[in-house]
Amino acid sequence: MKSRSLFNYIYAIYSLYELRYGKVLLNNYGYSPTEITKENALQLQFYTELMKAGEVSQTDALNICEVGCGQGHGGIYLLNNILSDKCQFTGLEGSDVAFLYCKFKHRKQKNARFILNRQGVPSPDNYFDVFISLETGIPRDDEQLKEIYRSLKPSGAFIFYETYDMAHDSEPDAQLKNAGFNIVKKTNVTANILGSMVEDNGRKLKYLSKLWFLPKKTQTYLGNYWGMVDSKKFEIYSNNHRNGFIYVITKPAV
Ligand SMILES: C[S@@+](CC[C@H](N)C(=O)[O-])C[C@H]1O[C@@H](n2cnc3c(N)ncnc32)[C@H](O)[C@@H]1O
Repeated sequence: MKSRSLFNYIYAIYSLYELRYGKVLLNNYGYSPTEITKENALQLQFYTELMKAGEVSQTDALNICEVGCGQGHGGIYLLNNILSDKCQFTGLEGSDVAFLYCKFKHRKQKNARFILNRQGVPSPDNYFDVFISLETGIPRDDEQLKEIYRSLKPSGAFIFYETYDMAHDSEPDAQLKNAGFNIVKKTNVTANILGSMVEDNGRKLKYLSKLWFLPKKTQTYLGNYWGMVDSKKFEIYSNNHRNGFIYVITKPAV
């Protein structure tokens, strides 16, 4: 995974923010447009889009796993708003700070469990109906792909969002096929991500102003990490150097 200490630092800031201002922060760029009216609407919309892309049943008792669940807010949103309450959610997370947060914050959510995990998938073979992930880098990692394949039920789906460097990452599809998956859907959602970055910029400016006590360097880092409109990150998405895709890939039926 990307630097574990970096994610620990980011989640420590998010936890501090929540403690001080009573608001949670999600850790994805968001997806525009949305009709959700809650706080973090665009970020929650991203989770909804994964469900839509994979045509995930809203009535079946699914065993669903998010790899890189962060502070778990997206998974809990799905359980309580989109999916059947017969579903079981497993959140795997590599950041110790985010994992401890999940264990405490979502302790009353009976159909969710969280596991501190950085490599592989701690489950039996053919166990999960659906895997999801949001910009974790896991779909580029052969070992992780092998593990997801192993622990998915036949016909099960891995639905993810990942960004690619359009000049250098030329073979993401080949990597997924080599791991044994069928590519069912691949949608370029760069415009939706850019839309969210623009729409959410004012809110992020407010966050930064409330995080005035952080070193200037950290504030600049966060602005870029969040893809604020004057950041390098925003620029590379705008000029098409980087594109974001939602993939739906499945393990073949036996
Ligand atoms: C972009 S954040 C998304 C977090 C969350 N899904 C959200 O939307 O708020 C990516 C997350 O994946 C986690 N991660 C990256 N690689 C991982 C791995 N190999 N195993 C577990 N977690 C991982 C990071 O710690 C981070 O929390």
